[in-house]
Amino acid sequence: MQITKAIFPVAGLGTRFLPATKAQPKEMLPVVDKPLIQYAVEEAYAAGVREMIFVTGRHKRPIEDHFDMSFELEVALEQAGKQELLDVVRSVKPDDMECIYVRQAQALGLGHAVLCAQRLIGNEPFAVLLADDLMVGRPPVLKQMVEQFAEWRASILAVQEVPPEHTRRYGIVAGTQVNEQLMDVSRIVEKPAPEAAPSRLGVAGRYLLTPGVFHEIANQPRGVGGEIQLTDGIAGLLRREKVFAYRYDGKRYDCGSKEGFLQANVELALAHPELGPGFRDYLRALEF
Ligand code: G1P
Repeated sequence: MQITKAIFPVAGLGTRFLPATKAQPKEMLPVVDKPLIQYAVEEAYAAGVREMIFVTGRHKRPIEDHFDMSFELEVALEQAGKQELLDVVRSVKPDDMECIYVRQAQALGLGHAVLCAQRLIGNEPFAVLLADDLMVGRPPVLKQMVEQFAEWRASILAVQEVPPEHTRRYGIVAGTQVNEQLMDVSRIVEKPAPEAAPSRLGVAGRYLLTPGVFHEIANQPRGVGGEIQLTDGIAGLLRREKVFAYRYDGKRYDCGSKEGFLQANVELALAHPELGPGFRDYLRALEF
């Protein structure tokens, strides 16, 4: 079964990035020349997803505008004969991609955000992408996960090793190793203290989930921080179905933090075909 739908929870307040996010969604912060949300959407598209479901909230209109047609801009670029820029603008939303918006009226947590999209997903497996986590991988990380899904036909969570002092930032998994990159998950805990963490494998913001998770999320009590946690829903799911943790090939930038965001900007600028060489020279010449 193909994965054709993805959920992008984008209703968060972005308080870690104030004041930049006072009047602007954090997902619209640009890394080099593209907003964070566009990286996540492009990753989903590259994995075969065509239906992008954004779970939005107040002050998130710029995201809808970004994936909409910009009529005046397109006409202006066309009249000015700026074909290259016109192509850039049009490529944000390919013709065969559909964008759907659903509102999360109250910020009750990531699990709740996913639950808001239940009716749009129906009875199919689906992806969840957290745009704060900018993933760079070849093939793109979600595509690697779709390949795993095709083989195992079960939920797949992207994981990476995290330092012990960071377990409080992640969902942490434990289980039985199936091969070098894959673990059959037997436990998942949201943001445990280092001494309570069952391992050092933290969930990055990419999930492929079977629809059974909706029922589990809906039946969990409030979890860490008083929120309805996706992790708790997955903990319920793995009592009924197999869930795998996949150590992806690639790199994650935590763009929900200022440090990770700056690192992403520097590294992606260095890798940029046009900007890279000049930026490298500039950095070399800097005196620290
Ligand atoms: C969320 C999840 C957590 C996961 C993390 C990845 O936490 O709740 O399990 O490890 O994303 O970025 P958040 O970063 O939204 O607090």
